[in-house]
Amino acid sequence: MSLDVTLLRETFERAKVENGGTRALGLSFYKRLFEKYPAVKPLFHTPPEEQHKKLMASLGAIVAGVEQPERLLPYLHAMGVRHLKYKTENAHYGAVGENLLAVLAEHLSKEGDWTPEMSDTWEAAIGVVAKTMIEAADNPALFKDELAKNGYEPDGFKKNDPSPWLDKTLPIGS
Ligand code: HEM
Repeated sequence: MSLDVTLLRETFERAKVENGGTRALGLSFYKRLFEKYPAVKPLFHTPPEEQHKKLMASLGAIVAGVEQPERLLPYLHAMGVRHLKYKTENAHYGAVGENLLAVLAEHLSKEGDWTPEMSDTWEAAIGVVAKTMIEAADNPALFKDELAKNGYEPDGFKKNDPSPWLDKTLPIGS
């Protein structure tokens, strides 16, 4: 596993400006996901045009917060617990991760390089994100105190904040 933080950030910055930016990347993500993994399509009720903004904002927060585990871990644990409400299963994380890596590769290779190092670093980052979300989804009760300390309800949502993926404590990079 090799997670090169500089490379992760540089490539995300490129994704924002190249080949139609994060809108194009995000829409490709859902298009490919639903084509390749049609079983997960019924879980999504928000149209890709809206949903992609949330996914891209969360990726921006993750990339920005990767060196602040004290902030990023509660953010990811809360997100993992919230996904229980969306009926996400642990087995879906492999599909979503594979899909994200594939669309990033396609997006970034249009106007520049997509190197094995970039692929490795994104694969590692996606793996850590999935593992951290699943850890909390598997046992939300274990994370109740941590979530409360960080302003989340036991179900991972926030009381007076309809957009918990836009964590105010993490610089949002999207
Ligand atoms: C890399 C890991 C993932 C990230 C970063 C991510 C990010 C997000 C974000 C930011 C939201 C917006 C709502 C919220 O934050 O509570 C969301 C909603 C959702 N995600 Fe994920 N997600 C991930 C994995 C998955 C997986 C594995 C599935 C399974 C298919 C999934 C299915 C959904 C669904 C169904 C919704 C709700 C959509 C709706 O409102 O209709 N996500 N996700």
